[in-house]
Parts: sequence; C-alpha cells; structure tokens
Amino acid sequence: MTEPARDQLIRAALDAQKRAYAPYSNFPVGAALRTASGKIYPGANVENASYSLAICAERVAASSAVAAGDRDFTDIAIVSRGGAPPCGACRQFLAEFNPTLRVIMVDTEHQDHGFQSTLDDLLPNRFDKSKVDRGKRP
Ligand code: THU
Repeated sequence: MTEPARDQLIRAALDAQKRAYAPYSNFPVGAALRTASGKIYPGANVENASYSLAICAERVAASSAVAAGDRDFTDIAIVSRGGAPPCGACRQFLAEFNPTLRVIMVDTEHQDHGFQSTLDDLLPNRFDKSKVDRGKRP
C-alpha cells in the first residue's frame, strides 16, 4: 500500500472514531476498511445499556461493506487509545472474507504510521467454511 493510501485509511478511521457511541466503556474505537474496489467503509463501536450488545468498530465496518455487496477486503485501519489490536471475535469475523487481510493499528496518543500486521499472523489456524463443510453430518 502506498503511503498516501495508508494515511487516507487512517484518517477515515480517526474520523469514524469521533462517531463512536461508547458511553459505558469510554473507549472509542474507529475502523476503516478498504476493499479491492478502492472504497472505504468506516465503522465505530456502538454500545448499549445492555452491555453485551456492544458491537466493535471492525464488525460495523465489515458488515457495512458486505451489505453494499463489496466483500473483497484488502486493508483495515483500527484506531484507539493505545492502538489496541482487534478482538478475537473481530479477527474471526474479518477472516471469513480475507484471512490475509492487512491490519494497521494506530495509537491515537502517539499518532505515527501505526503497527502493521496481517490476519494470518493475528489468527493462525482459523476455523473456516472448509472445516464446517468437512464436519457436516451426512
Ligand atoms: N472494541 C472495538 O470496537 N474493537 C475491538 O477490537 C476491541 C473492542 C470496543 C467494544 C467496546 O465498545 C469497547 O471497545 C470496550 O471493549
């Protein structure tokens, strides 16, 4: 990914973070997911008084892209205080569409180019459709 493309994705994630609804955790997270079409889908965490209903920024972005018919994910930028990596549920959710997705994590306190990884590294030996298909009752 080129430097400007990376900066653009991070900027979109920072913008989405401003729209996070996180009155319970006070931990706003922003995400921006790019697809092969070049489009960027933003996401922010959305919490609820019934705590367990909270949804992460990454899954909001991914669901938005899928709902738009755009499933060829290429990169995701995730921004938070501390530059947290995606939670396990989000790794699994994203891996469904691209198990080698590039993941950029940015600490909003020390805004630099972030820490870069791939889903392959973050979620090795994943559970996927092939395992479901193989284990299906005849
Ligand atoms: N959160 C995310 O949005 N993404 C993650 O990968 C980790 C956690 C959100 C969920 C919740 O609203 C808040 O961060 C604290 O867990």
